[in-house]
Amino acid sequence: MVNLTAGRFAEILDSFGDISLAVIGDYFLDKYLIIDPDLAELSLETGLDAHQVVAKRISPGAAGTVVANLHALGVGLIKAIGVTGCDGEGFELRMGLQQWGADIIGLMEDPDSFTPTYTKPMLKHCDGTEEEINRIDIRNRGPLSKRMEDLLVKRIWACVDEVDGIIIADQVAEPDLGVISPRMREIICQLGAKRPEMPLLVDSRANIGQFAKVMIKPNASEGARAAGLEGGDAISTDQAAEITRRLAERTGRIVYLTLGENGIAVRDGEEFTDLPGYQVAEPIDIVGAGDSTTAGIVPALCAGASAAEAGVFGNLAASITVQQIGTTGTASPQQMKARFAQYRQCYPGMF
Ligand SMILES: Nc1ncnc2c1ncn2[C@@H]1O[C@H](COP(=O)(O)OP(=O)(O)OP(=O)(O)O)[C@@H](O)[C@H]1O
Ligand SMILES: [Mg+2]
Repeated sequence: MVNLTAGRFAEILDSFGDISLAVIGDYFLDKYLIIDPDLAELSLETGLDAHQVVAKRISPGAAGTVVANLHALGVGLIKAIGVTGCDGEGFELRMGLQQWGADIIGLMEDPDSFTPTYTKPMLKHCDGTEEEINRIDIRNRGPLSKRMEDLLVKRIWACVDEVDGIIIADQVAEPDLGVISPRMREIICQLGAKRPEMPLLVDSRANIGQFAKVMIKPNASEGARAAGLEGGDAISTDQAAEITRRLAERTGRIVYLTLGENGIAVRDGEEFTDLPGYQVAEPIDIVGAGDSTTAGIVPALCAGASAAEAGVFGNLAASITVQQIGTTGTASPQQMKARFAQYRQCYPGMF
């Protein structure tokens, strides 16, 4: 049971404007180049076709997707903290984040890093459809310098007293190649220990099992692995209860185990709540679902929601964004209120 009325849901949502959050982690750039094949020119140098770009769609991804979602939900202040290269992609990334009203003072430029960028050339067909051809990736192949890490650590400690909550977006799977290096991980755990009352939620693609004293949000397979249990994408309620119990024993804080279309299992100490997913009709596009979930949960916690209530916000924000095809998508407060009404109708026994 979740004791959440429409009035309380709206009250929590309406106070997002007073919330300030830091989003710390890996900021990527997604760059779609739309190519008109009819305009292809032969390169005199190589004899190959030179693709001609007629449009661009550029947006911050990874931690940037969390920022986009927080902004759409009406969060008052969002501080982006991370590292980019001193390059054109870094400029584009900053422009995108600023469009969403983010404070980018904490997004530092490093001459020795690249701004991680996924460039996706899209062939535009006569019928208006687009076809993705070979992607070009710019990624960092070495660890962050000690100097940049030191600067980042300073930024993080400096922001703690200025925000109501913190989100960690640890996106890079290869050890030591992203912003959340082993040393940064230690700092984040220290921060969690020092501020047990502050919502501090970590999403980590490869290392969720190595965080303690912070809230964590693994998906089913990340959670099972971190708990040392078997389990793929489809897990039972009993398995979810056991995974979250083991993880919460380690972290000492709330655990959100996301279960794809089956929703979210929430553990807050002994209290375990299985929040069913809102069933959306096909077609769906699940890219960025995890980031929308984070963006729903953390401001709700900052606004005073219980662990399970905040889980509802995460669940519903993601159910809205998965319905947006070909884009990571966002959810507005109006969409959230409408979806909450639908959700209550589907699961009247839950409220
Ligand atoms: N098909 C779906 N229908 C409704 N809601 C969905 C669906 N898929 C995902 N969600 C919502 O998105 C949340 C996160 O999805 P999931 O558990 O797949 O996370 P993830 O694997 O971390 O995602 P990502 O690939 O973005 O990192 C779910 O808890 C649920 O609320
Ligand atoms: Mg995820």
